Order: sequence, then C-alpha cells, then structure tokens
Amino acid sequence: MRFTVLCVGARRANMEFVALFMLLLIPGLHWTVGEDTSWTYTGMVGQSEWSDYFPDCGGNSQSPVEVVTTQTKYDPGLTPLTPLGYSQHGNKPFTLYNNGHTAVIDLPDWMSLGGLPWLFSAVQMHLHWGSGGPSIGGSEHIINGQSAEAELHIVHYNSELYPNMSVAMTQRDGLAVLGVLIVTGEETNPGFNNIINYLSRIRHANQKVYIPAFDVQSLLPNDLERYYRYNGSLTTPPCYQSVIWTLFHERVQISKAQLLRMETLLYSSKAGDPDRMLLQDNYRSTQPLNHRMVFASFTAESGKELSSGEVTAIVIGVMCGCVGLAVIVRFIIKTIRFFTLLHHETVAVNSSTSSWDVLTNNRPAPMQRMKEPEKAKEKQQEMVLNSTSQAEKKEERSSPQTEP
Ligand SMILES: *[C@@H]1O[C@H](CO)[C@@H](O)[C@H](O)[C@H]1NC(C)=O
Ligand SMILES: *[C@@H]1O[C@H](CO)[C@@H](O)[C@H](O)[C@H]1NC(C)=O
Repeated sequence: MRFTVLCVGARRANMEFVALFMLLLIPGLHWTVGEDTSWTYTGMVGQSEWSDYFPDCGGNSQSPVEVVTTQTKYDPGLTPLTPLGYSQHGNKPFTLYNNGHTAVIDLPDWMSLGGLPWLFSAVQMHLHWGSGGPSIGGSEHIINGQSAEAELHIVHYNSELYPNMSVAMTQRDGLAVLGVLIVTGEETNPGFNNIINYLSRIRHANQKVYIPAFDVQSLLPNDLERYYRYNGSLTTPPCYQSVIWTLFHERVQISKAQLLRMETLLYSSKAGDPDRMLLQDNYRSTQPLNHRMVFASFTAESGKELSSGEVTAIVIGVMCGCVGLAVIVRFIIKTIRFFTLLHHETVAVNSSTSSWDVLTNNRPAPMQRMKEPEKAKEKQQEMVLNSTSQAEKKEERSSPQTEP
C-alpha cells in the first residue's frame, strides 16, 4: 500500500527525493540514482521518468519518431546502404543474451556498414516487441500512423572517427542504427529463427548463450534502396543523441508463431527472482520531431522494387484503365458516328426537298415529261378544234355581219 501511494506521489514530487526516501523505507529495493539506475518501460522509472535520471532522454532530438511520408523530404544523395561482411559470418559463434530489456546479439567487428559518409562498424543487434495482438503494436518507429509488430535494430559505431562504441555513443554522428520493421504473415522467416529458436535458453535477465553464427543480411528487407534518414538518439537510457537513423521502407515478415515466441519467452527479471516479470512491450513511444527533418531516399513515384501484390495491383489497375478507356473511346466514336449520320440524314432530307422543289419548279418530273407529247397532241387537237370552231364561229358571225 505504501509503495503504491509513493508511486503516485513520485510523479508529482521531486523524483530523486522520493526515490531516496523509498530506499530508506523499503530495504531490498536495489537501485541507485545515476548511470546504474534500473529503468523500465512502465512503472517507477518508466519512460516518462527516464529524463529525471538520464537528462538526454529529455532532449529535443530523441528517437523513435513517427514518419509521416508526406512530410519527408526526398534527398537524391541518399544512396543504397551496403552491408559489408553481413553474410561472411564465419564459424565463431555469436553471443545471445537477455539484458533485462531485450535480447541482444553481439556482432563481429568485421561486419560494417557502407553508404554513409564514414565507415561504421557493427556492434550488436536487438529487438523490440509488444505483448500480443497485431493491432497493439510493438515497433518503436511508426510510419503514417501504423506501427509494426516488432522492430530489429542493428547498431554500428563510427569507426573512422572514434576508437570504440563507448566513446562514439556520446558523439554526434557517432552511431548508425538500421531499423527494420517486422510484421506478421503466414510464412515462417528462417532468418529470424536463428535468434528465436534460442530465446528459451536466455529466459531470464543476465542469461547468455552461444548460438551458431548466421547470415545477418537474411534479417534485412530485400529493398535496401528505399529508406528514411534522420538524426536521433538511442531509444533506451541514456538516450544519447548520437544516432544517424536509417529506417527501411520495406517491412520484413515473420510468422505469428515466431512473434508469439518473441513476446512470451523472456523475462525482464533475473532467474530465481520471486517476482517474475515477462519481458514485453519493450518499445518506447514516439518522440517529437521538433525541428528535425526526415529525409527519404526515394520519391513516392520511384517504386524500384515492387512486391508481387503491388505488381498485381498495377496490372489490374492498368487493365481496368485500358478497358475503361476503350469503353470511353467506343462511346465517343459511336456518338460521333451517330451525330455524323444524323447530320447526313438531315442534309439528305434537306437536299432532297430542295431538289424536289427544283425538280417540280424548274424541271418536269420524268412522268410529266412522258405525258407531255400526249398533252401537246391534245393541245394541238384542241387548238385545231378551237381554230376550226373559231373559224366556224367567225364564219357564223361574219355571215350575219355580211348579211344584215
Ligand atoms: C574506448 O576508448 C577509450 C579511448 O581510447 C578508452 O579509454 C576506453 O577504455 C575504451 N573503452 C572500451 C570499452 O574499450
Ligand atoms: C544530422 O546532423 C548533421 C550535423 O548537424 C547534419 O550535417 C546532417 O545533415 C543531419 N542529417 C539529417 C538526416 O538530418
């Protein structure tokens, strides 16, 4: 009870004072303020308290961030990254251990990263995940409001400028971290089984196991050309703002069963600890960008490598477009034809009436022409008759005239 009350109070009161006060009150609560402070994602020294103990966690260039693709800036200078020696893992086993916050694999020093202004040597890689359910999340970085189920980080230090990781991690441009978003699908990802298959051997914090070396490149997406780049920090205390971040646009897929093992096998508590604590939800919430710009190595249109789904979508889209266009063109042609015909018919009707007019007015119809000779004959006969009758009449008239 006292503990809970103090927890609530701690949020408002001076954290260090309360922590010190509790150290006196509750024996066995083993932490000290400073570099060794045991931090967690929720609880007493949860994310919102990190900056009380690790001032850099309250800085203005923190990670992770949400990438809003419409607010990224295309930088044509962001050439494809070149993992060097990722596949030449050799025979020396890798070390996998549970540090109470995540599962870490130490990487051999010949593995490095090209494609940045300096050569960066690989140090270690680790994972972040949620607590079950694809909708809940687990990745640290978010793209356009969508989190992934988990995230892989491969950490490198600037070996051109600094002698080792501990020196580099406090320097600007000291570290380069690759971020790979992990989503679930139907198929098992054999690359990730090189880690997941051994998680049951490091269930408790501080446990360590040697695992067969494997091809680290098999954990990366195929498309290394499309990525986001920004300046940020370590996503765990001490949150040094020394990281050149590369977040790949393409996500990798693992099976639901693989994710489940990642989420449920590990404890953040040590072996023998009476209070077993599952190691879950070990992801930090996104941090404000402040005045930082996120750069993209690609534009929305420059889809160089497309997934089969995207190809199918494009093919269907193009086909629909063509069919639509054909329908429209056909309609237009039909319409044009219709109006052309209509116009011709009107002209034909007009011209025929006019020609009829012309015919009837100026030229006799063929039938009339045929009848003309007969008519003429009739007229002639009439004229003859008339003339004879007129002549007779004349004669009749003239006779009484001459005979008064
Ligand atoms: C890193 O290099 C510095 C400077 O050379 C040295 O003092 C320090 O001991 C080295 N740290 C490790 C862990 O090797
Ligand atoms: C990161 O910071 C360095 C030094 O301030 C700067 O030169 C570089 O352009 C920045 N990179 C990004 C991606 O913002």
